[in-house]
Order: sequence, then C-alpha cells, then structure tokens
Amino acid sequence: MLLFEANSVGNFKTVNEQNRRRTVNEEMKALLHNRRTIPAQFLSEPGPDDRTIRSLLTIASRVPDHGKLVPWRFIVIRGEARKRFSASFCEMALKRDPSLAGEGLEKEKTRFTRAPVIIAVVSRAASHPKIPEWEQVLSAGACCMNLVMAAHAYGFVGNWLTEWMAYDDEALAMIGIDREEKVAGFIHIGTPSVPPSDRPRPDLDEIVSWID
Ligand SMILES: Cc1cc2nc3c(=O)[nH]c(=O)nc-3n(C[C@H](O)[C@H](O)[C@H](O)COP(=O)(O)O)c2cc1C
Repeated sequence: MLLFEANSVGNFKTVNEQNRRRTVNEEMKALLHNRRTIPAQFLSEPGPDDRTIRSLLTIASRVPDHGKLVPWRFIVIRGEARKRFSASFCEMALKRDPSLAGEGLEKEKTRFTRAPVIIAVVSRAASHPKIPEWEQVLSAGACCMNLVMAAHAYGFVGNWLTEWMAYDDEALAMIGIDREEKVAGFIHIGTPSVPPSDRPRPDLDEIVSWID
C-alpha cells in the first residue's frame, strides 16, 4: 500500500507501509493523546507574542471549510483591553443582579483577565444556497480545536470557554461582534501555573459502533 508523506515545505513523496512506523510523528501522537485543559484561572504570563499568535491563527484557520466560505473570524484580546472588558462585564452582571457580591462578583471582575491572551473565534455561519449552515458552524468548532491544539504545540495551554458573555447581546456588541455572528469560543491562552489533572474520558465501547 502506498502512503504519502509531506515534508516540512509541503512537498509530498510516497512511502510504503513498511516505512510508515518510521514516519509516524511520535510527538504529535503524544500531544493528541495527552492534551488536557488547565482552567483559565491557572493560565499566567507569559502568553504568546504577536508572531506566535499569528502562527496559532494560521493553524486555527487551516481547517476543513466546505465551499471555502471562511465562515469564521478571530478577535485577539489582550493587555489593557482584557481589564476594560472585564470591568464592563462586571457592570453588566451587577445591573442584571444587583445582589451580586463576594466570590460571584470577583468572578465577573476577572472574566477576561485570567489568561494573558483571549482569542474569540467568531462564527459567521449564514444561510447559503449550497452549504448547510450546520457545516459552517462545525468549521468554526474545528477552528477552536485547532487553536487549542496549536497553543499546546507551542508550549502554552488553551482553555475553550464561552460563558455568559458569548450569549449576551450587550457584551457581544462591546467586543465588536455583530448580531448575525456567534461566539464559537473564547480561547484563553497562557502558561500553566499548576500541573494538569485529567478528567474521566468517554468509554469507547459505549460510543463506538463497528460495521464490517
Ligand atoms: C463550545 C464549548 C464551550 C465551553 N464553555 C465552557 C464554559 O463556559 N465554562 C466552562 O467551565 N467550560 C466550558 N467548556 C468546557 C471546557 O473547555 C473544559 O475545560 C473542557 O471540556 C476540558 O476538556 P479537555 O481537557 O479535553 O480540554 C466549553 C467547551 C466547549 C466545547
């Protein structure tokens, strides 16, 4: 059986099954097997610099996209903007629930200040004569996962969150997200300050059917 192997500049050469083991990317396998989220409150400085963020976004936008519609876009939020947004989220939360205090209030104050960089993955899925909207939404999900994986590959950790802001018109307008758009994820990226701890993963026997 012939397989194709891409080198770093994207040229392809054929390899045979015998050589496949040699070409398997062990580091990538380990990343895919072991990646796990560390919660945003444990993601500290340093975050990725501009150049690294561009690389992360290049990877995030390298996803299947039926019809090549590019039904998503990104907003990079960092520095002082995180504090401004967090203060406004806090005001909005207090307006809605004036009794908010203590831990709850503290949480609102730090919505966007936990990690050094937050990247909003914005779905622009819309009705199209040929491409179902559902598939456009899935493509935005793929962007989120690629972005999380890319963050880990570059030595950071990504936490895929939405939280109430993703569903709040006032919060979305403040970030510059249109009414026709949706947040697929606020991906929080930083350097972990605690070791990862895993959670139970699905039992494959319960979710996989084999049809021969
Ligand atoms: C679309 C989406 C939105 C999420 N939003 C939240 C959220 O708002 N708050 C939260 O605690 N977890 C949220 N999560 C879950 C976190 O990403 C969670 O930490 C993750 O499932 C951990 O799994 P992992 O270790 O495989 O990354 C969301 C996940 C997805 C896919």
